[in-house]
Amino acid sequence: MNADFKTLIAESVESIASRWDGSPRFGIVLGTGAGIVADHIQAEATLPYGSIANFPVSTATGHKGNLVCGTLDGHEVVAMQGRFHLYEGYDVDHATLPIHVMHAMGVEFLFVSNAAGGLNPKMDSGDVMLIDSHVDFMNRTSPQISAAPVMQRPSFRSDQAYDPELIEAAHAIARHAGFALHQGVYAAMLGPNYETRAEYRFLRRMGIDVAGMSTVPEVNVAAANGIRVLAMSIITNVANPDVLESTSGEEVIEAAQVAAPKLKSIVSGLIAQIQAQSASE
Ligand code: HPA
Repeated sequence: MNADFKTLIAESVESIASRWDGSPRFGIVLGTGAGIVADHIQAEATLPYGSIANFPVSTATGHKGNLVCGTLDGHEVVAMQGRFHLYEGYDVDHATLPIHVMHAMGVEFLFVSNAAGGLNPKMDSGDVMLIDSHVDFMNRTSPQISAAPVMQRPSFRSDQAYDPELIEAAHAIARHAGFALHQGVYAAMLGPNYETRAEYRFLRRMGIDVAGMSTVPEVNVAAANGIRVLAMSIITNVANPDVLESTSGEEVIEAAQVAAPKLKSIVSGLIAQIQAQSASE
């Protein structure tokens, strides 16, 4: 993509603005199974991706494919109910276009969720892990190369994208609510296959805590645009290389639904804190 990318972003923004006149400070990306978090949003406009100029259409299991625009606990948000994966055949620019669009809409904070296989033996299905670093095994071009003309920060260390203050605040919310919250390293795999036993073993030895097929391109684009990010993995299957159980799309969705209330409580809690902080400044 080139200078025309700015036009694509502007067209998408215009296509949304013609149906919703909000100016959200908060963006949310709801991955596999987590789409139900969007049920808590007082939707003012639910826009199917197919109706938004230049948006690809999500084909992945468990992904509804709506941009939900409205308020969460009274605060304006824009939420992706379903995302675009590289394994669906989209190039990295199209897969991350919604993040550029959120930035252009004024989003300052992004809450991203995904479904992931838990490699760390401490992790159980239905648990949530805050991502504090990642290893990018997607082996595709970076979204920062072709979209460079529209980016603020040409290069940065990618794990700086995972905002330490948001991580701390999320831990406090979980402690207060009484649920366990892990923190660790996400491996971004291209997919769409789940990993082989040998790959799980390899990843674990490399210090990876969870493996998934998304998030990293979005986080990079958000951070390059100055958006503060909290990224969360829902552990949907325990990826033990020695007693490997088969993983189905349905099981992944079921486990994600167990974790969805935890995501909701973190996102709501953080938004409330951020808004309270801004009001007192
Ligand atoms: N690997 C990769 N992606 C996933 C997994 C997994 O085990 N579970 C859910 N998404």
